[in-house]
Amino acid sequence: MPKYIIEKNGPLKGEVVMSGSKNAVLPIMAASILTSKQCTITDIPKLRDVDVMCQLLRSVGAEVNIDYIKKEISITCDTVSELEAPYELVKQMRASNLIMGPLLSRTGKVKISMPGGCAIGARPIDLHLKGFQALGAEIELEHGYVEARAEKLIGDKIYLDFPSVGATENIMMCAVLAQGITTIENAAEEPEIVDLANFLNSIGAKIKGAGTDTIKIEGVSKSELTGTKHAIIPDRIETGTFMVAAAVTRGNLLIKNAIADHVKPIIAKLKECGVEITETDGDIRVTANKGVKATDIKTLPYPGFPTDMQAQFMTLLTSAIGTSIIIETVFENRYMHIGELNRMGSNIKIEGRSAVVPGEQMLEGAQVTATDLRAGAALVLAGLIAEGTTEISDIYHIERGYSEFVEKLSRIGAKIRKVED
Ligand code: EPU
Repeated sequence: MPKYIIEKNGPLKGEVVMSGSKNAVLPIMAASILTSKQCTITDIPKLRDVDVMCQLLRSVGAEVNIDYIKKEISITCDTVSELEAPYELVKQMRASNLIMGPLLSRTGKVKISMPGGCAIGARPIDLHLKGFQALGAEIELEHGYVEARAEKLIGDKIYLDFPSVGATENIMMCAVLAQGITTIENAAEEPEIVDLANFLNSIGAKIKGAGTDTIKIEGVSKSELTGTKHAIIPDRIETGTFMVAAAVTRGNLLIKNAIADHVKPIIAKLKECGVEITETDGDIRVTANKGVKATDIKTLPYPGFPTDMQAQFMTLLTSAIGTSIIIETVFENRYMHIGELNRMGSNIKIEGRSAVVPGEQMLEGAQVTATDLRAGAALVLAGLIAEGTTEISDIYHIERGYSEFVEKLSRIGAKIRKVED
């Protein structure tokens, strides 16, 4: 199994260019099976999850051509030949459930293996299913699979108990071909939802309000849907991770192809820590040549502080002056990195959903395991400031979501390499 080997580093310096957003490209790829016409998606990131989504789309009958050099993917789903997402693919990537909405909308039927719990929580899909039911689908759960069927989908008002990103996306995609108007209330407001709505509108859907808590979808007929060419937004979590990489190494980075508006809570927290941030059009400069101060963080749905940045900030705060409190409210079990960080010499304590993070901890290199994507990123950041050598295993989690991570880090001075064990 490949590993990352990281040596203690000085300040990271230079320029780094952000890739397209993982959490935008996955739903948009899934959405392209709503239409029989060709969809070309540009600015795609090179990720394991994108490869899994390609396999999944091919398995339902789409023709998929991917060109990582041009950062482009084209998807044509002339006819849907299979209505089932198998266990082998769903267990590799939870976001496989995003094909439910478009397949149900286009064919009136879909069957997918139920995603189980994962390292960050139980992650049920009840809100997705309630949404499909409200539009007229019947749901059956059997032998670990969930099947949704609908003779006719009819628009309705759907109030989400929680502004779930996946449920908002799945229901929005399902409602594209439903009859009449669907309203999603308490919808997720993430930039990835807006990117998906823009893509859907570009193939002929009629969606308003994406990016607010109320989204209205006016159903259209299949014949109104066309093909499109759509560029993916930059990855705000990759942006945040590199911003923290600059801060944790007391470095100076120019982060290019970044949308400052999408990382407002990250900018605000880094400024509270005493890190200098300057925003120019499409670039963010992060300068951290002074000590970093402690701060408190509570994760929340967008536009609150993102849960996907909680682990990376925890690494930063182990080096801050003072003690910080982090409260994780989005996922119930997103603290698996704490055990690993403590093995590297921090002394973080968990109290329910809160973590108490003492600062000025001298981290030491150790053999650690990436338990999930963002936990893995936090360990890479820890490796950059830990004395000696850090060896990270299970790095496939990291490669699911960071495009050319080792290459990008190396170019700004990090001593990181990937080795085959
Ligand atoms: N939830 C339910 N029922 C549902 C759906 C969600 O209880 O039917 C709960 C979840 O268990 C969780 C909370 O609601 O506690 C939030 O889940 P949400 O549905 O918003 O998350 P998701 O769609 O499964 C996406 C991202 C995650 C990111 C979350 C929150 C994608 C492919 N994944 O997941 O990304 O953490 O939103 O922002 O978009 C990552 O990139 O590392 C990652 C995990």
